[in-house]
Amino acid sequence: MKTNRNLEGQHTEMLDVLQQERLALLAGDIGAARQLLDRLNMLQQDHIAHEEAELIPRLPPLARWPAKVYLAEHSKLGAMLAELRTALAPLPAQVSDASTRLTLIDAHMPFKHVLEHHFEREEKGLFIEVHG
Ligand SMILES: [Fe+2]
Ligand SMILES: [Fe+2]
Repeated sequence: MKTNRNLEGQHTEMLDVLQQERLALLAGDIGAARQLLDRLNMLQQDHIAHEEAELIPRLPPLARWPAKVYLAEHSKLGAMLAELRTALAPLPAQVSDASTRLTLIDAHMPFKHVLEHHFEREEKGLFIEVHG
């Protein structure tokens, strides 16, 4: 069984992969960015599956945030990450145009914000209220 400390470590790892991916976009290396998003997708799916199977069903009745809040954020994060992967799919492996690179980086900001807020919420709520 994963401990919540492991799960917090996975949050750090996912944010780190996203940071590496944004750096790859900054460099115009779409090929590397695609691989990093694939990796993030695997990590995120695994992480969410574990939380939904092992932690969320065990939230106490008076939890700070109810299960539906976590579940809605999970499905939003899944959809947003899928959209980013779709946006990179048709591009060439290398993009030199600076405004294209900037547009791609900007397009990641809503996902990054939702991800950071979600992790913060879990670390203040779910992980404290349910011991995995
Ligand atoms: Fe989560
Ligand atoms: Fe999480």
